[in-house]
Amino acid sequence: MAAVSQCCALLLASWTLSPLVSLPSSSGPYHDTLASFWSAQEASLQPACVFSPTDASHVSTALAILSSHTDCQFAIKSHGHAPAAGFANVADGVTIDLSSLNSVQVNVDASIVRVGAGASWLEVYQELDTHRVAVAGGRNGGVGVGGLLLGGGISYFGPRVGWACDAVDSFQVVLAGGQTVTASQRQHPDLFRALKGGGNNLGVVTSADLRSFPQGDILAGTLAHNISDREAVFKAIADLASAKDYDEYASIVLSVNFSPSSRTWTLSEVPVYTKPELRPQVYAPLFAVPNTTDSLHITNLSTYANESPIPQLGFVFYTGTYAATQETLSTVFDVANKTLMGFEQPEGMLLWSVAFEPLPTKFTQRAHNTGGNVLGTQPSDGNAFIVLMSATFANPDANNEVEGLSKELMKNINEETRKRGLLHQFQYSNYADPSQDPIGSYGAENVDSIRRASKKYDPNNVFQKQVPGGFKLV
Ligand SMILES: Cc1cc2nc3c(=O)[nH]c(=O)nc-3n(C[C@H](O)[C@H](O)[C@H](O)COP(=O)(O)OP(=O)(O)OC[C@H]3O[C@@H](n4cnc5c(N)ncnc54)[C@H](O)[C@@H]3O)c2cc1C
Ligand SMILES: *[C@@H]1O[C@H](CO)[C@@H](O)[C@H](O)[C@H]1NC(C)=O
Ligand SMILES: *[C@@H]1O[C@H](CO)[C@@H](O)[C@H](O)[C@H]1NC(C)=O
Ligand SMILES: *[C@@H]1O[C@H](CO)[C@@H](O)[C@H](O)[C@H]1NC(C)=O
Ligand SMILES: *[C@@H]1O[C@H](CO)[C@@H](O)[C@H](O)[C@H]1NC(C)=O
Repeated sequence: MAAVSQCCALLLASWTLSPLVSLPSSSGPYHDTLASFWSAQEASLQPACVFSPTDASHVSTALAILSSHTDCQFAIKSHGHAPAAGFANVADGVTIDLSSLNSVQVNVDASIVRVGAGASWLEVYQELDTHRVAVAGGRNGGVGVGGLLLGGGISYFGPRVGWACDAVDSFQVVLAGGQTVTASQRQHPDLFRALKGGGNNLGVVTSADLRSFPQGDILAGTLAHNISDREAVFKAIADLASAKDYDEYASIVLSVNFSPSSRTWTLSEVPVYTKPELRPQVYAPLFAVPNTTDSLHITNLSTYANESPIPQLGFVFYTGTYAATQETLSTVFDVANKTLMGFEQPEGMLLWSVAFEPLPTKFTQRAHNTGGNVLGTQPSDGNAFIVLMSATFANPDANNEVEGLSKELMKNINEETRKRGLLHQFQYSNYADPSQDPIGSYGAENVDSIRRASKKYDPNNVFQKQVPGGFKLV
């Protein structure tokens, strides 16, 4: 492995970079980075060193060095919330931890916000709430700017602005050789578009200029319902998600949760309304179903996104997209119940959850005037639900077993929904398992345009060959 630690030695040999490189033997930054990953699997990989730039120029210098040594493997980390091992960390390689690139700067009239790619969304909202403006970003404040935007980004504001990436005015990007460019509708529009869904295939984004909008307090919190009332809840949510005139202030996440220890189901919803109204009309049918928990309240983004931290656990994510109908919700529930009841549960298995998030046409039409994206989601696909299947487990060694069961669960769900004409093609990369092919799900034309941008901006395929983590252009 001499060649590998040589990559760290190359960075250490640079006068400007050496103070930013930390080795496993040092106390401090190296271990802080590993501790900051959301999942236990990702935290268990041991990089040869962690490189923690504090300025975009450091990223540029480092990429010039690493890309000229083709046996150097590296990973790009923002806030480390992708659960799969190796997405933002790399065993025996160089993990670039961008979390010090976390500045949040608001322009004079607060219409554009420049955010460092390593900021967390909480850091962004804490600054923006004081200006009474918001941007489309992660709902959980611990998520990073970089990963969320490059995969698309589902926010509370989707029906108003589209994917979070659709509200990007420009990206600052360091290309493979170390050159820094601005990508926007005016400059390098091909790169700009490809970044919006293209993940880490094209460059290291160091900052993004986001279009903001005035925003006051919101309605947020959790509702729970008895599982025996599920059809009434499913109907209320399917009607909301498929409404002809979708209320663009409304968002909701519906979760059906299976406890492996009690083998029972719970039903919970997070209805967030982006106006300070306690009883928005759009949720009336849902609120009419008797609830078992109600923590709805008026709050603000920076308070609500500041969720209490949870310990590093094993997590598997899997995704699919389905028609926004009650039949989808009932079918997925029945298949999940049948499948999960039949599993021999791995030791330390804590939770199976299937979450449904509306993707209405009002959301997918927003990309039109903003330079587009490569996600391939469009109004002609109809109203949909994006599903995030997540499995939580205490023992990270169970990863392969849980992943296998997750795959079986999703296979059963997809077989039954396909038969009924409910299965859509799109796979959201930020919720996808490594065995899925979200980039392929964008469609051939979009894949081609990412490929053309890659050829032009990274002719040596550094981001495919030297950055093993994430979904790769193939
Ligand atoms: C608790 C939780 C809540 C979530 N909530 C939401 C939500 O509300 N909406 C939503 O859409 N998704 C959500 N997600 C999914 C989330 O968008 C993805 O996990 C996302 O990849 C995390 O981004 P990150 O920067 O924190 O992750 P990281 O693990 O740091 O990065 C993810 C991927 O992006 C690449 N990457 C990151 N930054 C850069 C960069 N600057 N340049 C190039 N490549 C980069 C990395 O190499 C890696 O492959 C959530 C996930 C979790 C765990
Ligand atoms: C957000 O809410 C918190 C808690 O209620 C409050 O302390 C804070 O002042 C609010 N921020 C703004 C900008 O209103
Ligand atoms: C859910 O409803 C069933 C009857 O439909 C009832 O037996 C059960 O106690 C209820 N559970 C809770 C937690 O209220
Ligand atoms: C939840 O149930 C309680 C008790 O019945 C009720 O007072 C409350 O209004 C319900 N919440 C919603 C959002 O409808
Ligand atoms: C789940 O399936 C079991 C049979 O395996 C059945 O007895 C049970 O009623 C189902 N649960 C629900 C909530 O439908």
